[in-house]
Amino acid sequence: MSISVDDRLLDSADAADELAEDARIGLARTPKSLPPRWFYDARGSELFEQITELPEYYPTRTEARILSDHAADIAAAAPVETVIELGSGSSTKTQLLLDAWQRGGTLRRIITVDVSTSALADAAVGLAARYPAVDLLPVRADFTRHLDGLAKRGRTAVVFLGSTIGNLDPAERASFFHGVRSALGEGDVLLLGTDLVKPVDILVPAYDDAAGVTAAFNLNVLRVLNRELDGDLPLEAFDHRAVWNPVDERIEMWLRATREIRARLGRIGLDVHFEAGEELLTEISSKFRRDGITAELAAAGLRLRHWWTDPEQLFALSLSD
Ligand code: AVJ
Repeated sequence: MSISVDDRLLDSADAADELAEDARIGLARTPKSLPPRWFYDARGSELFEQITELPEYYPTRTEARILSDHAADIAAAAPVETVIELGSGSSTKTQLLLDAWQRGGTLRRIITVDVSTSALADAAVGLAARYPAVDLLPVRADFTRHLDGLAKRGRTAVVFLGSTIGNLDPAERASFFHGVRSALGEGDVLLLGTDLVKPVDILVPAYDDAAGVTAAFNLNVLRVLNRELDGDLPLEAFDHRAVWNPVDERIEMWLRATREIRARLGRIGLDVHFEAGEELLTEISSKFRRDGITAELAAAGLRLRHWWTDPEQLFALSLSD
């Protein structure tokens, strides 16, 4: 059985236009940069699923552990009718929560929101089978822009797991939190997963694994550009780099040109030039502290009510209203 993905907020033509625009702007910047959402075509979403199972990549299994330890507390603190999951991907971890909400007896509606149609459609099969009595609405959308376009009804939990919030810089986070705040009504909550600041010898390998899966994931954005914009960027001429930025407390993923490159994105008539050694910033993955995230939420009018973490304080889940 297949469940159709609602792409009225972001269809393939919109996505192609936005990629073209992001490429034109980002590749003209110094340093060059691209937004991380373009990693997630079908192949990129699959590579990300492989990352979540790597020994070095602690966030997914740590967050899953916190979720399974506290799902009942979370469901009790927020007995909601609608769950909106942002950046839902495979929705695997979410099931730990949905089970608890379902046991509470209030759950009526699940809205999954992601930029990846394939991830939404694949996840929907499992969710529909597991929660047959709940309405399931997979929506292709960009969570930084389309929050108020979602059909929320009754008490609602906005669930944003995996520390995907870390892909946003502080200004983008402020505007995201304000958007969430204005979408939330009485009794609604935000459940947020945040990866915490920790020693660099744990952080860097998580983004530069021995098996090279993260490198393949990083390079995948060049494949997406070549396919969607009729480009000829030579993947073999780029190295994957993962760097800890101690000032902004974030991991940065870069692609470094190992030689001078002259390429072209034919569909938008854009010539792209890399000097030998020039780097392209493909992702920031910000790490958080309790005080910092509490203050950021408060600045948007959100009050942090609960904070759950693992024994090693690698990752945290917070509930705010
Ligand atoms: C999905 C954004 C949370 O930042 O850890 C994993 C993406 N990038 N390895 C992260 C990612 C490289 C991931 N998020």
